[in-house]
Amino acid sequence: MMALEIILGKGESGNEIKWMPKNEKNPHFMVVGTSGSGKTETLKAVVHELSAAGVPSFIVDFHQDFDDVADNVLDFTNMTINPLEYAPETPEAAMYKVSNILKKIFALGVQQEGALQDAILSAYRDKGIDIRSMERKDAPTFEDVKNILENKAEYLKEEKRSSQTVETLLVRLRPLFNTGFFTSKKSTIPFKNIFAETTVLKLKNMPTEEVKYAIAEFFINKLKYELYARGKTDKMVLYCIVDEAHRLIDDKSPLNDLLRESRKYGTGVILSSQRPSDFSDTVLANVGGIIAFQCRLEKDAIFVGRQMGINFEEIKNLTEVGTGFVNLSSKSGNEKVKITPLWKRKGMKTVKKERKIEKPHETVQKEAQKKEENKKEDDQVEETPKQERNKIPEEEDDAIYIRDEYKHFPPLLWLVRGLKAYFSSVKRGALFAFAMGSAYSFFELRLAAALTAAFLLSATAIGFMRSREKK
Ligand SMILES: Nc1ncnc2c1ncn2[C@@H]1O[C@H](COP(=O)(O)OP(=O)(O)O)[C@@H](O)[C@H]1O
Ligand SMILES: [Mg+2]
Repeated sequence: MMALEIILGKGESGNEIKWMPKNEKNPHFMVVGTSGSGKTETLKAVVHELSAAGVPSFIVDFHQDFDDVADNVLDFTNMTINPLEYAPETPEAAMYKVSNILKKIFALGVQQEGALQDAILSAYRDKGIDIRSMERKDAPTFEDVKNILENKAEYLKEEKRSSQTVETLLVRLRPLFNTGFFTSKKSTIPFKNIFAETTVLKLKNMPTEEVKYAIAEFFINKLKYELYARGKTDKMVLYCIVDEAHRLIDDKSPLNDLLRESRKYGTGVILSSQRPSDFSDTVLANVGGIIAFQCRLEKDAIFVGRQMGINFEEIKNLTEVGTGFVNLSSKSGNEKVKITPLWKRKGMKTVKKERKIEKPHETVQKEAQKKEENKKEDDQVEETPKQERNKIPEEEDDAIYIRDEYKHFPPLLWLVRGLKAYFSSVKRGALFAFAMGSAYSFFELRLAAALTAAFLLSATAIGFMRSREKK
């Protein structure tokens, strides 16, 4: 098999700059730079190349930036996680892991953390689970933990003792308890798909930043155990991509475990951050490659400059988006690179939204074919103005959305299409809803319901007709 080779972009003399993960001291990679400097675009380009080479990526996507490189989207509609499921550890170990993650993300105090730990242990005991045993039983859920905390607050109040710690803990964790994401006893994560095609964990619609980070960490923790279960390999089988990763990394975080151990399991990690100085020195020292774009904050530029052996002024003074210094462990010194953005890469014009679930080897074959085809096409493709290329056209964006979310229930798809035909913009839609709402408050309830039903039905009909037109 050909060695994995990722083209990053062009050097100053027009030379091609490549990254070959297997040549480096480890397959991990880091991209740093101020907001807007080109980190996300770089990750997308790398994911695209990896996928073309038959290595799928698992992407933790906080902002819905990665739709155009995804084959498969995970969110709360098609997956559940129960972080209290303890296999392959003991319940006690799982408790420490969960409480540590929540403590960091929700900034819990020592007493709150203690109360949370007690509640998690009680939840296990209530299910008849010995916290030190490996016996497999159905785990409790966050719902159970929440109930235990609420009962405890009640009890303390009745006893006229201070319930403040427990109550503030409940308030802190409320967004987490209220998501409804953590109500299932069993995790259902489609690992088979994750290891076969590029998968995005879509967190954008989760209620708060904290909940997003918590879900990401719980997920990465599960991924880690899945890797252990699959066993060691010399082949690269997966890349785990975390854009804006600085809030997920600390000594005890699952992501840090991945950085330390995943290479043995054929898995690389690619991180980006706009606040590199939040990482410990060991994180940067442990990646096989770094790209530094402009770091406007001197503190960050100094930190990165020290790691890469460049004068910090050079990093601070980079100006062009997508141009930075690359430092690979296999080479001495740094090279300036202009990253080739996703839209200029081979295969993008034709592959973009057509990709379906494929086995990795099929992808390799297809990409080889496409490369051939593109060689011919490339010269003929018209250049679109840069401004337009940077912006993902709305229509295309919607196409993914509709396909992924509603394909199992066509009437819903028709309804969404119809509603879209009615209001081509969100603002207009909101205005219309507001106008309808005000109108209703003057009418009788039954009339209002009939009006709504008629409206929705007509939208569905229009959507249905449009769907037929499209076919
Ligand atoms: N290598 C590149 N070449 C051309 N344009 C780029 C490049 N990288 C990023 N851009 C553009 O610059 C803008 C910001 O890039 P982005 O990757 O979102 O930055 P960041 O993730 O660092 O905030 C986007 O509009 C993107 O399309
Ligand atoms: Mg970004």
